[in-house]
Formats: sequence, C-alpha cells, structure tokens
Amino acid sequence: MNKKVAILGATGAVGQRFIQLLDNHPWFEITGLAASERNVGKTYKDTKKWRLDTQLPEEIGEYEILPMDPKKIDADLVFSALPSDVAGEIEANFAKEGVAVSSNASANRMKEDVPLIIPEVNRDHISLIDIQKEKRGWDGFIITNPNCSTIGLVLSLKPLTKFGIEEVRVATMQAVSGAGFDGVSSMDILDNVIPYIKGEEEKMETETLKLLGNMDKDRVKPASIKVSAGCHRIGVIDGHTESIWVSTNQKIDAKDAKNAFLMFDPQLKDLPSEPEKVIFLHERDDRPQTRLDRNIGRGMTVSVGRVRDDFDGIKYIALSHNTIRGAAGAAILNGELLAREGYI
Ligand SMILES: NC(=O)c1ccc[n+]([C@@H]2O[C@H](COP(=O)([O-])OP(=O)(O)OC[C@H]3O[C@@H](n4cnc5c(N)ncnc54)[C@H](OP(=O)(O)O)[C@@H]3O)[C@@H](O)[C@H]2O)c1
Repeated sequence: MNKKVAILGATGAVGQRFIQLLDNHPWFEITGLAASERNVGKTYKDTKKWRLDTQLPEEIGEYEILPMDPKKIDADLVFSALPSDVAGEIEANFAKEGVAVSSNASANRMKEDVPLIIPEVNRDHISLIDIQKEKRGWDGFIITNPNCSTIGLVLSLKPLTKFGIEEVRVATMQAVSGAGFDGVSSMDILDNVIPYIKGEEEKMETETLKLLGNMDKDRVKPASIKVSAGCHRIGVIDGHTESIWVSTNQKIDAKDAKNAFLMFDPQLKDLPSEPEKVIFLHERDDRPQTRLDRNIGRGMTVSVGRVRDDFDGIKYIALSHNTIRGAAGAAILNGELLAREGYI
C-alpha cells in the first residue's frame, strides 16, 4: 500500500508532529506541505518554525510550502492541522475535489454526517462516510478525530462502558502545546495555572457522547451519559493529565476497573500506528507523570493510574500525549483505518 498524503497547517505544533510521525511511514508518503499565505512559496526549512526535539527529515526541509488549493496538491489523503475558524471551508474544498480529509480541527467534528473516530472505540462509525458523500454529492469526504483532552478520557472510559456508565466528572491539567505555537505566552503560564480554556469543556462534554454513541441507521445516537468537565492549562510542554470520577449503574470497585483496563484489547489488526498497549495501567501511586510516561507506546498509549474506590463508583488519573495521541497520531491512525477499509 502506498498512498500520497499532504499536511494542511504543516508549520504548526500539530503539523510538525505529522511530519515527525510520517517520516518512514510504511504506507504513506508526504507529497505536499501547506501553510498560510505568509509562508507559501518558502521552503519548509525557511519557515523557521521547526521546534520539535528531533531532526527535521532532510528532504522535507526542501519542500516548498503550498497554498490551500486542492488543485495544487497531489494527494489521496490530506491531514488537516488547521485552526478551526479556517478549517471548515478549506477541508470542504478538498473533499469536494475528491480528496479524503482526516482532520484534527473541531470545525466539522460534531456535524451529523461526519465521522468522529477513535479506531479502538467506534470504528463502525466510519460508515457515515458513505452517507456524507451521498448527502453532499462529494467524491471525497471528511473524517475527524476528537479534541486532545477528549481522546484520553474516552479511551479510558471505553473499557468501563460494560458497567453502564451513568456520570463522568473530569478535571484536566493540559499542556501548553495544546494551544499551538502562538497559544499561551510564557508570562501567562510560568508560575501559574489558568482555570479556563475556551470551548474545551463543551468539546469534552459533547464529543464524548458522540464517540460512545451507537450507529442508528444513518446517524449516531449519542450515549446517554452525564459528562461534566473542568479544564485547566498548566506549564507542561506536552501531555494532558486528567483526574476522572466515574459512577456506573452496575456496582464497580477499583479492582473491577483495573481488570477492565488490563483486559482492554480492541484488536485493530496491525495498523502501523497502533500501540502495543492502548492502555497502560500503572501500579505505583506516583504515576502516571507527564515527563516519565507521555511517550509510552510512541505517544499513542494512554496511561492510567491511581485507580481508587469512590463513594459512588471509581476515580483514576489518565495521561495522554496531546499532540500525538490527541492530534497527529490520532489522525494518522484514522488515515490507516481508511486505507485498510478501502476508503482511500
Ligand atoms: N495542539 C494540540 O495539542 C491539538 C490537539 C488536538 C487538536 N488540535 C487542533 O489542531 C489544529 C492545529 O493546532 P496547532 O496547535 O498545530 O496550531 P498552530 O501551532 O497555531 O498551527 C496552525 C497551522 O495552521 C496554519 N494557518 C493558520 N492560519 C491559517 C490560515 N488563515 N490559512 C491557512 N493556514 C493557516 C499555520 O500556518 P503558518 O505557520 O503559515 O501561520 C500553521 O501551519 C487546531 O484546529 C487545533 O485546535 C490541536
């Protein structure tokens, strides 16, 4: 399998993760990098934005930055790492021209005919693609992955759904990279915790229900769970930590929950970006920690720890890498699913 892929928003925090994760990918070859008008025509290395802690693949540095024009980009699949306010229109332009779009942006996530997918959770929702194409008359289509804080929550909730989840409360401690390169100034975040991230709580509360919902004919029937989120920005570079409280209609204790986490084996059948363990259960009381654990499973594993009984259920901590499992890695895994299922 050899598919041509391009990255929209290639110079951003997530765009750079795409480049890093797609380097030597067994199925995908990068054929185009696109960014805003201010960078179009420059070589990638001249945008001077490469800030990840790895070497820029040499040939990628020489790529010319392309405009957001489907006619100028030769790709079977584009990964979108665009700000949401521009993503909606740009992604639709590509889909109309017959290109498959795997997007990180929130613009299209909650549209009824757009699949919001975590392959280990709800890959059957992929059938919305056919409905979307028919309804909109497009040759291409858009598929999305969730917000970076939703994904760690939902992957850790999935094994608990068999106990009948009724209510979820979550308090996040989110990394600065989640706000993009220009997101939070150092003067705002050093020596500080910011108890507000615009739109984040709403995203966690709505996306979770779509992801854990079931296909009902041509739409997703959202899960009937009460979800309440409180989101906070902290001075960590990468890795979102979440304190999660879950109550269920069947009786559950910490031992049941730990067993469910240990047994979780969603069997994606060898997608290249699939981690060996989707959930890693930590037994030590002082784990997971961002610096020590965010890169488990090449950043695709969700770390879970401190699983304890609570007065009406259980509580635990989850950690996931926000620009890998929460963004670029998630979109690439969705792209691999598309390739394996014959959508591209
Ligand atoms: N960071 C995360 O952890 C994370 C996680 C999940 C989802 N997301 C979502 O992923 C998307 C990208 O986030 P990010 O953190 O990578 O943002 P970012 O660092 O600000 O990067 C934004 C990218 O979009 C390009 N861009 C900005 N304005 C544009 C315009 N008007 N037209 C065309 N291109 C434009 C930028 O190009 P220039 O360099 O040329 O300006 C840059 O490549 C957002 O929708 C975000 O919500 C982010």
